[in-house]
Amino acid sequence: MRRSRHYLVTGGAGFVGSHAVAALLDRGDEVVVLDSLRTGHRGAVLPGARLVVGDLDDEVLVGALLAERRWDAVLHFAALSLVGESMREPYRYIAANVGSGVRLIAACVAHGVRRFVLSSTAALFGNAGDAPIDEDAPIDPGSPYGESKAMLERTLLWAERVHGLHSAALRYFNAAGADPAGRLGEDHVPETHLIPLVIDAALGRRPALSVFGTDYATPDGTCIRDYVHVTDLAEAHLRVLDLLDAGSVRYNLGNGRGHSVREVIGAVERVTGRRVPWHAAPRRAGDPPVLVAAAWRIMRETGWQPRFADLDAIVATALAWREGHPEGYRGVDGSIIPTGGAPRSRRGSRSTRG
Ligand code: UFG
Repeated sequence: MRRSRHYLVTGGAGFVGSHAVAALLDRGDEVVVLDSLRTGHRGAVLPGARLVVGDLDDEVLVGALLAERRWDAVLHFAALSLVGESMREPYRYIAANVGSGVRLIAACVAHGVRRFVLSSTAALFGNAGDAPIDEDAPIDPGSPYGESKAMLERTLLWAERVHGLHSAALRYFNAAGADPAGRLGEDHVPETHLIPLVIDAALGRRPALSVFGTDYATPDGTCIRDYVHVTDLAEAHLRVLDLLDAGSVRYNLGNGRGHSVREVIGAVERVTGRRVPWHAAPRRAGDPPVLVAAAWRIMRETGWQPRFADLDAIVATALAWREGHPEGYRGVDGSIIPTGGAPRSRRGSRSTRG
């Protein structure tokens, strides 16, 4: 029988992190999540994992967790992750993501961690043109967010050269959808991601969607993205973890198919059976016109295959979660913010469970 492995997961209460934690738990691994819950949700950490609420800047806490046991790997999801916001606050993005990531990498090396997985991003490729982007494409971030991840990827190269740390940098294209078992979903406050916004517009929960830019050099004038199911991304983590003994890897992760904003609106209209109200709005700074992955390398080297490659299937799982959770995790984890008050918590600011 396979020995169960032990993983420390930063940002495991966030969207992609929580789905990766679920995949690890589903295969019988032990998981400790470190999350500040500033953007993550208590309810997104499944009961099988132990949640430690705390900050990556808390070097004493991070050191204590790393010293707790011999970890099979550390998976680093925690980060500021909004392209548009990073164009307004470039220094905050670079300082926060690079600072916390570099400190974590250094602490991992100091505590004898041998394997590290970084959540990286398609935002590394700002001006790649229309063709699917493979791992040999030049790194040329279109935003400070992408730049911060490029810097962390470079840091990992040096951590390997100098200290022998093996790492995987997984460049997610547009993570979307929700756990097909209905346990987890996408809940950002405020929500800025396209698919949940289009669904809510269709359900009449928000006003008409603003389509950021209808004059791009694409067939219908709107931006094209490669929407990849979050459960497929989670599965990719399992596969790369098994490779890391042999060395370090960098993979682009997507379905290899691009969909425009207007095509996403069409998919939501098909799946919900409702019309999506929308209007044209100015372009959003930092948005590359087209981002589509060429994910052959991870497919060839690990056997990874997306199970939910179809856009309507991705939208259907996202819709199911949003219909079942009209308040997102606020109905699940007691983290409703009362007007004028601090977040309500049933536990202290640093808590554990599991
Ligand atoms: N969009 C709209 N209206 C909206 C929201 C989004 O037209 O109200 C458009 C955007 O302009 C973009 C597309 O929908 O063209 C997708 O936007 P998202 O905000 O959903 O996602 P991004 O492509 O900006 O970014 C996401 C993640 C990043 C990651 C990137 C990789 O948030 O962390 O995918 O492609 F780096």
